Amino acid sequence: MQAIHVLNGPNLNLLGTREPQIYGSETLADIETRLVAKAKALGLTLECRQSNHEGDLVDWIQEAGRADAGVILNAGAYTHTSVALRDAISGSGAHVIEVHLSNVHARESFRHRSLISPVARGVILGFGSLSYDLAVDALVALAAKKKS
Ligand code: DQA
Repeated sequence: MQAIHVLNGPNLNLLGTREPQIYGSETLADIETRLVAKAKALGLTLECRQSNHEGDLVDWIQEAGRADAGVILNAGAYTHTSVALRDAISGSGAHVIEVHLSNVHARESFRHRSLISPVARGVILGFGSLSYDLAVDALVALAAKKKS
């Protein structure tokens, strides 16, 4: 793993004002600033991107696969619908940790199914914005294990 790419999908640009009782009051910029600092302290580079468009996410997953970057992906609602994102992960060989702020299994049944989970390295959900921090820790631990 050369670097970590944090990819956020639709509506995650609204964090801070979007249903704060579910997603918390931190903005995406707050979370990204914290993750960049955490990665820097660990000697890693971490790049953050967000898009409301499925094709952007497909392109970025493919790019991370080519670059051998670890991916932290919150695909938002595309998690539950997108064959294209699933195929991008399996086709590019990108190492993806799927994350969600909320515990999707405690919510509406349409959120219980993820098309991403079967092709993800692992899934972290339900810890609010801490889910992203835990995903960084997981990628770092996996990379260290691979090296040893
Ligand atoms: C989410 C959960 C999804 O069901 C939802 O569509 C989102 C956010 C989460 O982080 O909890 O946009 O991925």
